[in-house]
Amino acid sequence: MMAYLVFLGPPGAGKGTYAKRIQEKTGIPHISTGDIFRDIVKKENDELGKKIKEIMEKGELVPDELVNEVVKRRLSEKDCEKGFILDGYPRTVAQAEFLDSFLESQNKHLTAAVLFDVPEDVVVQRLTSRRICPKCGRIYNMISLPPKEDELCDDCKVKLVQRDDDKEETVRHRYKVYLEKTQPVIDYYGRKGILKRVDGTIGIDNVVAEVLKIIGWSDK
Ligand code: AP5
Ligand code: MG
Repeated sequence: MMAYLVFLGPPGAGKGTYAKRIQEKTGIPHISTGDIFRDIVKKENDELGKKIKEIMEKGELVPDELVNEVVKRRLSEKDCEKGFILDGYPRTVAQAEFLDSFLESQNKHLTAAVLFDVPEDVVVQRLTSRRICPKCGRIYNMISLPPKEDELCDDCKVKLVQRDDDKEETVRHRYKVYLEKTQPVIDYYGRKGILKRVDGTIGIDNVVAEVLKIIGWSDK
């Protein structure tokens, strides 16, 4: 199975949740630029690390040149021979154009850009109740997908945490940035004829099944 996928959708659409499940099923690597930057912030206490931390806490976007460089490096790793699921990238038209020219230079092209539609109020509710395992990154929700034991990761048994940018005010700002900067990316893929829309409110299993259908995956 090979597919080159872009996952689009507002913060809290479920991009990370679906991508992790699809990676487990198909072996196609899940690449989240948000996860990469959170990792840099955690490990690098230098100027760059601090700058990225500040941008993310405000819910603004990291500059295109930096994001593009990080993605180019990641896509050049060996596991991407199986394709990729890009989660949270591209988020601006400049990023989308960069990705296109990078893929073109390798004689590859995107299989689909999948957009998960979720309205703002659902997003706010999902993100203010989201919890993450700080060790393995597994994503929980205290309303729709709670851990078995109170606030502990089912696998690692460590205490779940909230993301710094999941306060309601920041979530609403991230949503605004999404409409402003990423809506044009949706139009960009629409014009290229590779945009697929999936209702992101129908439950995790149903959404995952829809995406697997789009890429033509079957369990047999
Ligand atoms: P990033 O980490 O990409 O955040 P985001 O796009 O805002 O998306 P989230 O991770 O918040 O949501 P998600 O769609 O992954 O949802 P999840 O699966 O967790 O980016 C963070 C920051 O990094 C940006 O603000 C920016 O500063 C920087 N950055 C990253 N990429 C960048 C780029 N390309 N350019 C510039 N800057 C960049 O699910 C959410 C919750 O809902 C969970 O609790 C989950 O359990 C629940 N849930 C999911 N699906 C369902 C469902 N179908 N039904 C019920 N509950 C569900
Ligand atoms: Mg995510």
